[in-house]
Amino acid sequence: MRLENKVAIVTGGGNGIGAAICAAFANEGARVVVADIDRQGAEQVASSICDSGGNAFPLLVDITDPNSTTGMAATVLEAYGQIDVLVNNAGARIIKGLMQHSLEDWEQMLRINLTGPFLCAQAVLPDMVKRGSGNIINLASIASFMGRPNRCAYVAAKSGVLGLTRAMATDLAGKNIRVNAIAPGMIASPFNQSFAEASDTGPAWAEENLIGRWGQPDDITGAAVFLASEESGFVNGSEIKIEGGWLGARSRSGETPLWD
Ligand SMILES: NC(=O)c1ccc[n+]([C@@H]2O[C@H](COP(=O)([O-])OP(=O)(O)OC[C@H]3O[C@@H](n4cnc5c(N)ncnc54)[C@H](O)[C@@H]3O)[C@@H](O)[C@H]2O)c1
Repeated sequence: MRLENKVAIVTGGGNGIGAAICAAFANEGARVVVADIDRQGAEQVASSICDSGGNAFPLLVDITDPNSTTGMAATVLEAYGQIDVLVNNAGARIIKGLMQHSLEDWEQMLRINLTGPFLCAQAVLPDMVKRGSGNIINLASIASFMGRPNRCAYVAAKSGVLGLTRAMATDLAGKNIRVNAIAPGMIASPFNQSFAEASDTGPAWAEENLIGRWGQPDDITGAAVFLASEESGFVNGSEIKIEGGWLGARSRSGETPLWD
């Protein structure tokens, strides 16, 4: 098992991509803390892991509140005595025009998507630094690399997640703590359910990437396990895009690959 004896906190573990990462980590032998503001989601994910013979517990946390994030780290240390992996997965998105974003919308997007990962990292790092070992994985997005319409605050925050990833990796140099990011695109989690199920965007968006389908939460787990394990020991301050090639290639209207 690739994560045996590791303790992993996954924020936003109660739904979608986070829930899939929790299950994959548990399958690889990690003890998993399903940390979420959604108590019911966290409880369901943790009990389904325990029912399948894994080790997990749910933890109520609001990643935007420093008291809550330091409390999270203290609870995990009391329960397991160590924190090896933090997956900063919890996130949210507001879709509104540039001029329709209120200051509150803007600040909420930055707080959840950028300040939250910073606070969670600050909460777990004292233990990681003390033990000379640790691993942080931040969930970025295709929106970290490009403008997307009607998502100015989300795009700004997710671009910031890549900057935060690089800056934290730099500040932690020499401490045996790596920080990397995963940048998903178009995953049919609750976050994107309405687009995946709609008769227009569902099939049409699937055709826009090079694989030709929507991604599923399980499409993210291989990279998460890789980054959390020693297999990625020389990967640091970096990111893995998982978006079916949507960012990597563009065809102009009428252009198709020629084979014959
Ligand atoms: N689904 C996609 O297509 C996609 C694409 C790019 C990036 N992402 C990113 O991946 C991550 C996971 O997305 P998802 O699709 O699973 O979303 P989701 O909405 O299905 O799940 C997000 C989870 O975060 C939790 N959460 C929200 N605010 C919180 C807070 N303040 N404190 C603690 N938990 C909180 C929610 O309760 C939920 O369980 C997010 O960071 C998202 O931005 C998703």
